[in-house]
Amino acid sequence: MSKDPSEPDLEAMPFTEAFKKFKRLKLFEPSLGVLGFFFVSLCVILCFFYLDYRAVAKGFRFSGQSERFTWLQSNESSKDVRVEFLGEEGGVCDVFDGDWVWDESYPLYQSNGCPFLDDGFRCSENGRPDLFYTKWRWQPRNCNLPRFDAKLMLEKLRDKRVVFVGDSIGRNQWESFLCMLSSAVPNKDSIYEVNGNPITKHKGFLVFKFKDYNCTVEYYRAPFLVVQSRPPSGASQKIRTTLRLDQMDWNSGKWRDADMLVFNTGHWWNYEKTIRGGCYFQEGAEVEMEMSVEDAYHRSIETVVRWIDTAVDPNRTRVFFRTYAPVHFRGGDWRNGGACHLETLPELASSLVPTDSWSQYRIANAVLSALSNTSKAMKFNVLNVTQLTARRKDGHSSLYYLGPKLSPASIRRQDCSHWCLPGVPDTWNELLYALFLKHERTSTVNASTYSAPV
Ligand SMILES: *[C@@H]1O[C@H](CO)[C@@H](O)[C@H](O)[C@H]1NC(C)=O
Ligand SMILES: *[C@@H]1O[C@H](CO)[C@@H](O)[C@H](O)[C@H]1NC(C)=O
Ligand SMILES: *[C@@H]1O[C@H](CO)[C@@H](O)[C@H](O)[C@H]1NC(C)=O
Ligand SMILES: *[C@@H]1O[C@H](CO)[C@@H](O)[C@H](O)[C@H]1NC(C)=O
Ligand SMILES: *[C@@H]1O[C@H](CO)[C@@H](O)[C@H](O)[C@H]1NC(C)=O
Ligand SMILES: *[C@@H]1O[C@H](CO)[C@@H](O)[C@H](O)[C@H]1NC(C)=O
Repeated sequence: MSKDPSEPDLEAMPFTEAFKKFKRLKLFEPSLGVLGFFFVSLCVILCFFYLDYRAVAKGFRFSGQSERFTWLQSNESSKDVRVEFLGEEGGVCDVFDGDWVWDESYPLYQSNGCPFLDDGFRCSENGRPDLFYTKWRWQPRNCNLPRFDAKLMLEKLRDKRVVFVGDSIGRNQWESFLCMLSSAVPNKDSIYEVNGNPITKHKGFLVFKFKDYNCTVEYYRAPFLVVQSRPPSGASQKIRTTLRLDQMDWNSGKWRDADMLVFNTGHWWNYEKTIRGGCYFQEGAEVEMEMSVEDAYHRSIETVVRWIDTAVDPNRTRVFFRTYAPVHFRGGDWRNGGACHLETLPELASSLVPTDSWSQYRIANAVLSALSNTSKAMKFNVLNVTQLTARRKDGHSSLYYLGPKLSPASIRRQDCSHWCLPGVPDTWNELLYALFLKHERTSTVNASTYSAPV
């Protein structure tokens, strides 16, 4: 932003005026001149203080709601006015770099007003006493996000399909999206599962239709994204199943024609959920007994990216890949005393998540970044939420996932991987919304494929 051109003039004015006054005063008696000199000096000094104060006040006002933090970090940025992400100047803004700011206008919906939520995410209804976790808004450092407008989004999604694919954290995000959209629909009966299935944890897929908009919002459970199947005949006894790293999940045929497709994966790519249970990795006809989980994860993401590249029509489908959502178990693991209960505030500075829980993220990041300089792989957006999510140790279900009729869980069985709703996944969806609208505006202006920063 350019400086206010009137500033130098304002500063210069008291000098010239004072000088003129001083010259005029000299024509009178010396004693009066000395007195006048003091008086004018005082004026000049006071003027300086006044201007200085105004500059400080201006800096404060412009730095917005997160001034407490940006002020400490940077003296320069507070002079800039943030641009709108959807505006022309917002194109280069990294929306994943920013701060959590308290916002009284949040949350975007109430859990008891949304019938599309698993009990496991209804923390407040399940007895969580504080509501702080619902009040934080994500504020990018260099731009402002558009506020989520459910009605506008539903209009954009008329006659369209939105598909979420992944593990239960993806389901968490999908249910958040259902609630956010349905907040603009007074008649909740006009939103229904097309096969009449209830929201329960173990369905393969669920398709919710917004009847008035002929739009569906779907969830496919596919924690590995690639095929999990029986081992080839003649394989070793200890192999119960294999993950076929070079083949997309059987359901992928149902995903490719979606208008908006949101992938996530990561939480199942660990030793406990694969090799320990007899699940090994297969490429072609061969089961690779020695392959590490990290290598397998790496290959699977390459397979996903290749599939996006070859099977998906970029003119029709906007693809998003949401990065890993960190867990916040402290002093143990799930069912092993790990805790996040009584965390009521985010980490407002940077994340203190231990580095050993970042490997899922690093692997995906390495693959996605490596592919980002090959133009063809740019057909999708990365929802790079890992770092902003890492700061939200306060957002997990903790003890409050058993449903409104039961009392909170035992202190030794905390859920520090799923998220309360309303809560953190709403922010992922706000970012999804912002990128979706951004793409739409850019592509109507240019009618060319928009390459988002990976
Ligand atoms: C502002 O901060 C930058 C570093 O962020 C520093 O180099 C510069 O000297 C500071 N300017 C003033 C006027 O304090
Ligand atoms: C509803 O949307 C689907 C696409 O998801 C489209 O094929 C169909 O024609 C639409 N129906 C109506 C009545 O517009
Ligand atoms: C996408 O649309 C553009 C322009 O309409 C067209 O040139 C291109 O072939 C289309 N791509 C695919 C994969 O259909
Ligand atoms: C992409 O970047 C990587 C290193 O970051 C490099 O090894 C690779 O050759 C690059 N690919 C292309 C197509 O430029
Ligand atoms: C839009 O088109 C202009 C020139 O017509 C080009 O300079 C610009 O890079 C394009 N932007 C995108 C996002 O494609
Ligand atoms: C995500 O953001 C982090 C930090 O802002 C950056 O280091 C990383 O490269 C980004 N990853 C992707 C895939 O954009």
